[in-house]
Amino acid sequence: MTVMQTKQPEKINLDDILSYGNDPEMISFAGGFPDPKLFPEAALKQAYLDAINEDGTAIFQYHTAQGDLDLRERLADRMRSHCQVAATAADIMLTQGGQQAISLIAQMLLTPGAGVVIEAPTYLGALDVFNRYQPHYYEVSMDEAGMDVDQLAALLAKHPEIKLIYTVPDFQNPTGTTLSAIRRQRVAELAAKYQVVVLEDSPYRDLSYNGSVPPTIKHFDQAGQVIYVSSFSKILSPALRTGWLVADQRYLKTLISLKGASDLQSPQISLRAINQFLSHQDIDAHIAKLRTVYREKRDTMLTAIEHYFPKNVTYTKPAGGFFIWATLPVGIDAGALLADVAVPQNHIAYVPACCEFAIPVHNNGMRLSFVGCSPAEITRGIKRLGKMLTELV
Ligand SMILES: Cc1ncc(COP(=O)(O)O)c(C=O)c1O
Repeated sequence: MTVMQTKQPEKINLDDILSYGNDPEMISFAGGFPDPKLFPEAALKQAYLDAINEDGTAIFQYHTAQGDLDLRERLADRMRSHCQVAATAADIMLTQGGQQAISLIAQMLLTPGAGVVIEAPTYLGALDVFNRYQPHYYEVSMDEAGMDVDQLAALLAKHPEIKLIYTVPDFQNPTGTTLSAIRRQRVAELAAKYQVVVLEDSPYRDLSYNGSVPPTIKHFDQAGQVIYVSSFSKILSPALRTGWLVADQRYLKTLISLKGASDLQSPQISLRAINQFLSHQDIDAHIAKLRTVYREKRDTMLTAIEHYFPKNVTYTKPAGGFFIWATLPVGIDAGALLADVAVPQNHIAYVPACCEFAIPVHNNGMRLSFVGCSPAEITRGIKRLGKMLTELV
């Protein structure tokens, strides 16, 4: 468990990392981008046409900040059937991706010096949001069952200024680990005891490759302290810029008002197109296809790592999602290695640890995304990376 006042070190810019993909020789494991071959292009095109044909001019008008009722009703059904959360459409707000939900929740809760508990490491896009409020970060370490809830309990008991616990419990970005059911229940109980909000950020939940996923933290939430956030970005397309949050009414009212102040509403055309997609297509069959392809890629990357990485590099074995996290021997700076060796000499990109911790001391990890490359590229890229690491560690 580590505590720090606020952040942040000089660190590698995310846009720079993603632009490494423009090098034609580059094999990039950096971006958390879905495989573009799996976008349901024809069905989405048809869904946009159907939405415009059916809604007529109304689709071009202003609508509510909370978002399209039909889509919220479909999502409420899905929350009940897939997440064991008894939500209704009235408990849901549609957002421009999960990212906007994170941003609005931070706006609602954070002021300079407010305490924020984060997993170490965590999703770098959430750190980008929280940093704007100059919070006091409390990092909780992770193991193969997710965040250490004993550390969380100790922090909450000691620091009443903590306002927010941010967690990605399902196939976490960046480690790929999943929070166990027993820890989920404990997180919900601690949030209730200390009246702290949990932001349960879960865009990868449907992308499970080894069977079932534990119930959501929201499922255990008796006190209305958990705000569940998810998104269509990883299961349909990030260009739709559509996500949703499920919150207790006392938080939802504020969040709707902040959403209205921020952008008035999400684009109605996309919301109605998604509604059409869900009414005419079998999204679970589409997700099953994603699972099959991504499972093979995950297995390919794990096999290649096992074969080509030196034995003093450890790595996670995710049961879903997009990412594997590799830990290099202490003292090796994965950021410097990326900039000086991996990209210019080996044409390999990954996201280094320095981007994913609030506290700059952790620098020997790398996030490897297995979804964007073909299995052949994965094997080639991991072989190159393994050769580079073998020469270094
Ligand atoms: C954990 C996590 N949360 C939120 C997001 C934001 O996604 P979007 O705004 O596209 O829904 C991402 C994207 O990579 C993510 O990995």
